[in-house]
Amino acid sequence: MVSIKPLRPLFAAEVTGLDLSSAPSGDTMAAIEAAFERDLVLVFRGQDITDDQQITFSKRFGPLETTKVGTPGAGSALIVLTNIGADGQIEPPQGRQVLNNKANQHWHTDSSFKPVPARASLLSARILPSSGGNTEFISMRAVYAALPEALKRRIEGRVGIHNFAYGRAKIAPHLVTAEERTALPPVRQAMVLEHGAHGKSLYLGAHCAAVEGMTAEEGRALIDELMAFAAQERFIYSHVWRPHDLVMWHNRAVLHRATPFESVAEKRYMVRTTVAGDGPTV
Ligand code: OGA
Ligand code: MN
Repeated sequence: MVSIKPLRPLFAAEVTGLDLSSAPSGDTMAAIEAAFERDLVLVFRGQDITDDQQITFSKRFGPLETTKVGTPGAGSALIVLTNIGADGQIEPPQGRQVLNNKANQHWHTDSSFKPVPARASLLSARILPSSGGNTEFISMRAVYAALPEALKRRIEGRVGIHNFAYGRAKIAPHLVTAEERTALPPVRQAMVLEHGAHGKSLYLGAHCAAVEGMTAEEGRALIDELMAFAAQERFIYSHVWRPHDLVMWHNRAVLHRATPFESVAEKRYMVRTTVAGDGPTV
């Protein structure tokens, strides 16, 4: 029997009693869909799955994104997040994958730099360090609900400019390649998203570079103020990975980030699939 239990107040739930290597029934999928919209982060325990099984399960939520240029897995439905290089050895601190992992330590939402940002991401733990390397989530729905009215009024109907190169350049100037810059020009995203009966959420994160219609300084100050408000303990769920966890999150209603670990000494290998969004946010 599938069981879905809250992991903390407000959002995040644990799903047990399910084997994702065989196809869940339609009824079970309906229960998972409802929990996903309500709880935003779902932790499926004990899923020792292959890449193909992860893809098959992920597709039950909609068509998958194709991994962008410049990322391990480019052109396929898989994104590999690891500090292990092509030669099987741990990459040095300035290695491209290690730097990309560092970028993931900033609060962000996946593919907000694409014209149609992702609906959901599913991340599977394959190799874990002995400590650290958590993944943390902010419910941007709880954040929106708690925002002071004056701030809500300032952002209503506003558009953020999201740019892949913006966030990456802060990690290391040459981390973004010319190919990535060409493939990923800045895009417009609504700052407030509607989720029907579930209410609204704030849509921001590390790719958000500016606010349309504001000066660079004014926009930056507003983004910083909102991000500081969002990153309060009371809105955060910190996921401590167990072997074979699969975690799925609502990319349009949560922000996430990785926490550091001993990246020069220990291996971490995670595989992500990304469910495409069904339309633009503006
Ligand atoms: C991701 C991501 C964080 C982590 O998979 O999109 O940001 O903890 N992962 O690896
Ligand atoms: Mn991410």
